[in-house]
Amino acid sequence: MTKSLNLKRFELGVCYYPEQWPETMWADDYRRMRELGFSVIRIAEFAWTIFEPQEGTFSFDFFDRAIDLAHQHGLQVILGTPTATPPAWLTSKYPEVLNVTQAGVQYQHGQRRHYNYNAQIYRELSARIVRKLAEHYGQHPAVIGWQIDNELNCETNVFYSAADNLAFRSWVQQKYDSLDALNSAWGAVFWNQTYTDWAQVNLTGPTPSDSPNPHQALDEKRFFSDSVIAFARLQSDILRELAPDQWVTTNGIFGHLDSHQLTEEALDFISFDSYPNFSTIFPAPGPEPLLDRRWSWNLSIARSISPNFCVMEQQSGPGGWVNRISQPTPKPGQMRLWTYQSIGHGADMILYFRWRTATVGTEIYWHGILNYDNRPNRRIREAAQVGRELETLGPLLVGTRPMARLAIVSDYDNEWDGELDLWHGPYTRQSVQAWFKVLQYRHIPVDSLNLRPTTTLEDMLKYEVLVYPHPAILTEDTAARLAEYVKQGGTIVFGCRTGYKDLRGQCYMVPMPGPVAELCGVTVEDFTRLETTQRAPLVRWRGDKTNGLTIAAEGFNDILQSVAPGARVLAEYDDEFYKGSPALVLNNSGKGRSYYYGAVFNEKAADALITEIGLTSPVARWLDLPKPVELCVRERPETGEKLILLLNYSEETQTINLKKAATDLLTGKPAQGEVQIPPFDVLILAEVTGSPITASP
Ligand code: GAL
Repeated sequence: MTKSLNLKRFELGVCYYPEQWPETMWADDYRRMRELGFSVIRIAEFAWTIFEPQEGTFSFDFFDRAIDLAHQHGLQVILGTPTATPPAWLTSKYPEVLNVTQAGVQYQHGQRRHYNYNAQIYRELSARIVRKLAEHYGQHPAVIGWQIDNELNCETNVFYSAADNLAFRSWVQQKYDSLDALNSAWGAVFWNQTYTDWAQVNLTGPTPSDSPNPHQALDEKRFFSDSVIAFARLQSDILRELAPDQWVTTNGIFGHLDSHQLTEEALDFISFDSYPNFSTIFPAPGPEPLLDRRWSWNLSIARSISPNFCVMEQQSGPGGWVNRISQPTPKPGQMRLWTYQSIGHGADMILYFRWRTATVGTEIYWHGILNYDNRPNRRIREAAQVGRELETLGPLLVGTRPMARLAIVSDYDNEWDGELDLWHGPYTRQSVQAWFKVLQYRHIPVDSLNLRPTTTLEDMLKYEVLVYPHPAILTEDTAARLAEYVKQGGTIVFGCRTGYKDLRGQCYMVPMPGPVAELCGVTVEDFTRLETTQRAPLVRWRGDKTNGLTIAAEGFNDILQSVAPGARVLAEYDDEFYKGSPALVLNNSGKGRSYYYGAVFNEKAADALITEIGLTSPVARWLDLPKPVELCVRERPETGEKLILLLNYSEETQTINLKKAATDLLTGKPAQGEVQIPPFDVLILAEVTGSPITASP
């Protein structure tokens, strides 16, 4: 069951830290927030010592005043549970709660997220503070929901304390039951790693060449994820018991955490923290980089968990820590643009991070809406504009959902295995980037689909096309479901390195791509990894719509044999000792098709495949869009009514051509023909039903 944010009205708000400002400022802050149209604040996620100044002594006066005053101003409150920042009294009395690096160095008090999830005393003290908070605020009329902790697994996502080690041992004992099974799953016969006593089984430690047992490393990540989920469950069970009318979420999506399972087991919906400038400071290589628009992919992942979600932290200023790379300030219009980027991808509640820039601490350069000086500025004007616009737009948006006909498929097993295994992990990142960029520039909305044992055929059949770039780990069960998807009319695209490992990360002793060889009508005869310095071999395409294209086959080359009688070779290597061998094979089965491409996808290959498959933009018939404009479509499930969001990420005015009548929902005016979108601006359209499409000029 998908857990989605389900609101009656759009909520806009801001993260606020009453403990960081003189109390005399609160009323003015709240008044100004309301003037901007804000309806919600998030508070208290780092304030454990204020609630529990000494072990077992609780005090709510401070936050009672802050929350009651917010309530008087008509603001709703999301309360953070404060477990991301254990008090100094706690870590000094119980140092076993501190996290430890793989090299054995224990973190100390002074930053945040320095605890581990498995220390029994930390679990007890965390449960107690959450219980106290829920008892106290569980019925408060201003409190609408809870954020568990803050960004679980941010800062670090590996845990090697003594408590974690012991918990890992029980975890593997439960999973494998016998040492024989464990030794077999971890391939312990290789390099004499066989365990003869459970006491010898540990989390991975430092190893020569930094190269632990890969099967153990994969299990370790599953264990980290389970530990986080158990810790979140500890809190959400209490909140559900004591605050049944308030919802529960957490913010962010981070490594070594199955956020889909976390949401399923502990939350009502996921919240995401949206900082698009991270994509600008680490641009992807290649021409015409997507920059801040690349961030849209992260938002797509958030909506694969909750189709409508909350953005708990929306970037509202330049970012930077005192010691961390700084980000440029959002250009005029960009903060508003990013807000609509979140909306375009499914957010129905957005809180800016943060109200005012901190004047103390590590984040004095992580700017909020207001600067230290507290004067009105251009960012506050932009927030006000968004607030005004959402008054009319909000009711139209709420309950609509982004729609896409293509999904890029992923799964946690391959993600985690691919962190260590360089023979497939990096390829997935490259291929996803290439597909996403090409789809963006062709204005074809794309979803992320996390393939899980619970994913149904219906979930898959929502998409005409699934791209599963390099699923090295692929089980018979997944293969059977994918085969059924194709049989019923779906189109699937695989890249190199598909289907050669089982769930333990061990290699199958069958021709690749193993469990999908029959579906793809192809086997891999031979293969080679390409060095980065090596020129990628060229491939000649001869598909119906791609005949004559020559595209470099990058990264890795599977040298294919076309085996199934009906399978068709759509491209061949034109280079190397495997010149003439198939590089791309199409196989039809049932009502659908599968494509097996023997390399890593670059932009040209993704582009050619989209053409070959015949996928076009859903607005292609009536809307001409230039490349710098992102298209998002939000659709009301009950009526099929669509809202078209057009976002201009560039510094130049972009001209679009509307070949039928639409309504500009921000102005309420009709729009048709050539319409300009100024730099960093947005246009939100509703089609006028029944209006005819005019011929292109
Ligand atoms: C988020 C975090 C916030 C703040 C912000 C800016 O990751 O949740 O507390 O640190 O980044 O760095």
